[in-house]
Amino acid sequence: MSERTLAIIKPDAVKKHVIGDIIGRYERAGLTPIAMRMLRMSKATAAGFYAVHKTRPFFDSLCTFMSSGPVVVLVLAGDNAIKKHRDLMGATDPAKADKGTIRAVHGTNIESNAVHGSDSPETARFEIGYFFPEMDLIEE
Ligand code: CMP
Repeated sequence: MSERTLAIIKPDAVKKHVIGDIIGRYERAGLTPIAMRMLRMSKATAAGFYAVHKTRPFFDSLCTFMSSGPVVVLVLAGDNAIKKHRDLMGATDPAKADKGTIRAVHGTNIESNAVHGSDSPETARFEIGYFFPEMDLIEE
């Protein structure tokens, strides 16, 4: 069943000039970009996006990092897009991510971990709507 997920190429990956490599991995895995923006989040925008984590000890540092430079935000569509994207990303901590995954290859540490991906259909709906109005999504 075709599904949608939100991906963010984080400031560390944009600075490393690996936007093209990451999007290439998505396309080769059969995930189709159906919307894409490059933007720099304010700290408040990052805090709203990560609101589910607001009581966590890493929240402030995470919001500072996510607003430290431009990011690329994209919607990916495809069969089992949420799980497929999470498999491509690897574990949150690059040191624990499977060899060859995006975080293992491009991540630095648990915060500067190159990419974000929605973790459930409910989260995907919220996260896609946070950055894209429905009319900006390309018909699959
Ligand atoms: P992400 O998938 O974007 O979701 C929440 C982010 O918080 C996570 O990736 C990490 O970049 C960041 N983070 C920082 N510290 C931690 C931690 N100790 N545990 C989980 N996530 C963390």
